[in-house]
Parts: sequence; structure tokens; C-alpha cells
Amino acid sequence: MGILISGRGSNMEAILVAVKKQNIPVNPTVVISNNENAKGLKIAQRLGVKTEIVPSSGFKGSRWDYDRKIIRVLQKHEVTPNNGLVCLAGFMRIISPGFIRKYKNRILNIHPAILPSFAGLHAQRQALDYGVKFSGCTVHFVDVGVDTGPIILQSPVQVRDGDTEETLSKRILQREHKIYPQAVRLVAEGKVTIMGRKTIIRNLDR
Ligand code: GRF
Repeated sequence: MGILISGRGSNMEAILVAVKKQNIPVNPTVVISNNENAKGLKIAQRLGVKTEIVPSSGFKGSRWDYDRKIIRVLQKHEVTPNNGLVCLAGFMRIISPGFIRKYKNRILNIHPAILPSFAGLHAQRQALDYGVKFSGCTVHFVDVGVDTGPIILQSPVQVRDGDTEETLSKRILQREHKIYPQAVRLVAEGKVTIMGRKTIIRNLDR
């Protein structure tokens, strides 16, 4: 498994800790950042996972040229389109159709809203501005749209009177740290089947 980050890396950390503690059957071989200053890089190293930087600022080529570099790094760390999983965890780039096609149904993302509401940037602010009473978070497969792929798990979070973008984001983030590792486990254990827009989740323990 490879994890792609751009910043803080708290979802990455939640996944890496859960993989170890809860025996999730994946092998996190690399964390890749497009930003050399991403705080998550140090966390990954502390947790014993190799890190790589593929700088995107100042990169002159196309989106696909950039993603080909990422793919080369993934493959170097044995995250292949057949057996690998790629988790986007606060990776602040739109990835190209070529990358998505190559790792078809192997790329996951977390979004801090109940999709399809409030896709794109600043989802928590969008939710507050709209005045919804519940928001939350979504783990989904990545397809060629922005935050549009088949949904694996969602978790609702109540919006409180007086919430600010910061307080709501914080409560949603706590929930993100629960459902992202759960979704990784379900996919890694082969319990998620994609049927068109939908996923069907088979929980063998129940
Ligand atoms: C999270 O809110 C996630 O939902 C969004 O970007 C943020 C990343 O935070 N995609 P972190 O880097 O995982 O702490």
C-alpha cells in the first residue's frame, strides 16, 4: 500500500497505526508527498515507513507527466496496479485519468463531507455556509470526477449551533480517523465489490 499526502498526515497516521495494531492485511511500503515540508513525512518515518518526495511546485510537465513519476515511485515500492492500494490522505492534487485507469478501483480517498454534498475544497465551510444540521465524512474509490467515485463508508457528524469551520472540522476529523482505516480493512480483505456507482460490502464476521 502507498499513501499520498501533502500536509499534516493525520489520516495517514490513523491508517498506519491501525494497520499495525489491528492487523489489517496490507503492507504500507511507502508514503509519498508532493510537498517536501509535509508534516506527515516525519510521522511516517517515526512509524517506520519509507517516504519519498515528488515535488509538484515548479513542475513544468503535464498532470500525467507528474503522475507517471508517482507511479514509478509506487512501483519501486511494490505498489502495483494488481495487488497495490493507493490511499489519498489530504493529497492536494487532482490525479489524472491515466493514473486512475492504471490503478482502476485501487485508489481510495477521504472527503470531509457526506458526498455528494459539498465536494471539492473547503467542504466543512461549505456545509456551515449552507446551514446543514449534519455533515460528516466519506471514504470512496477514486474515479475521474472530483469526489464522485463509488462510496465505501460514510459517517455523519452533527453540526452544532456556534460551530466554526475549525470546531466542525475537528469533530469530522476524529470520525475520519475511524472510517478510513475501516474502509482500508474492508478493501484489503476483499469485502468490497463495486457494482456500477454502488459498492456492496460483505462482512464475513457477521
Ligand atoms: C482531511 O480533512 C481530509 O478529509 C481531506 O484533507 C484533510 C487531510 O488531513 N481530504 P490530514 O493531512 O489527513 O491530517
